[in-house]
Amino acid sequence: MPESRLRSDEIPRHVAIIMDGNGRWAEQRGISRLEGHREGLGRVRDIVRAANELGIQYLTLYAFSLENWNRPKLEVDGLMRLLSEYLDAEIDEVDRNGIQLRTIGRTERLPISVQRAVDGAIERTKNNDQMKLVFALSYGGRAEIVDAARKLLRDAERGEIDPDHVDEKTFGAYLYDPELPDPDLLIRTGAEYRVSNFLLWQIAYTEIHTTHVMWPEFEKANLVEAIIDYQERERRYGKTSAQLRGES
Ligand code: IPE
Ligand code: IPE
Ligand code: MG
Repeated sequence: MPESRLRSDEIPRHVAIIMDGNGRWAEQRGISRLEGHREGLGRVRDIVRAANELGIQYLTLYAFSLENWNRPKLEVDGLMRLLSEYLDAEIDEVDRNGIQLRTIGRTERLPISVQRAVDGAIERTKNNDQMKLVFALSYGGRAEIVDAARKLLRDAERGEIDPDHVDEKTFGAYLYDPELPDPDLLIRTGAEYRVSNFLLWQIAYTEIHTTHVMWPEFEKANLVEAIIDYQERERRYGKTSAQLRGES
């Protein structure tokens, strides 16, 4: 049982997941890609529950990228419908478990029905104090940095900020959700080894775990496995092991 190897006092504070492989999982079974996405949303439900039980404080899920807008219209429309359905079906349990929902991304591009469902869920859960569940929707990492730069430049134009005093901390405050700490662990399912424009600013020192498991088959045991893998890493932040042990 992998869970017995988990050190519960060293649970990563922020886990981010690139939920990939829905389409291939479906194609392998001869069913439609949308069926794969539907199954994938079932895993979202399970993993949200599991992450909260494990004591993860922030869970960020890459649900739809800016580049995903370029998929066939039928798939995009289907995904949008599934997202609304997910929110309608899950918001009661999410709220009951004290989970707070948030989003990052150019969410103004989402269909109005999805925006309404998202805004309602954010408003309803805003005072919850258990896990923060962040959906990256219509999200791109470079776009986030560009959007932050735009806001910062506007403040500079108004004289509210001095360019000479802009440092990483000031810049970080202009990102979509400045309260979000950098992820400790990034998981990518679906046997791909790239970051696909996810959280580019925030993953500077994030530990990365990849797995061949397709997202529709990713379960709590896989999450636990990823955390155990993380717990075996040494996060050096540019230093030496000896320094970390306090030897020099
Ligand atoms: C991830 O699964 C979900 C989204 C991008 C919305 P994919 O749809 O990318 O699945 P594959 O990579 O084609 O298998
Ligand atoms: C990344 O998956 C985006 C999400 C999981 C939402 P993609 O399937 O879109 O990434 P690429 O195209 O393989 O890089
Ligand atoms: Mg994919």
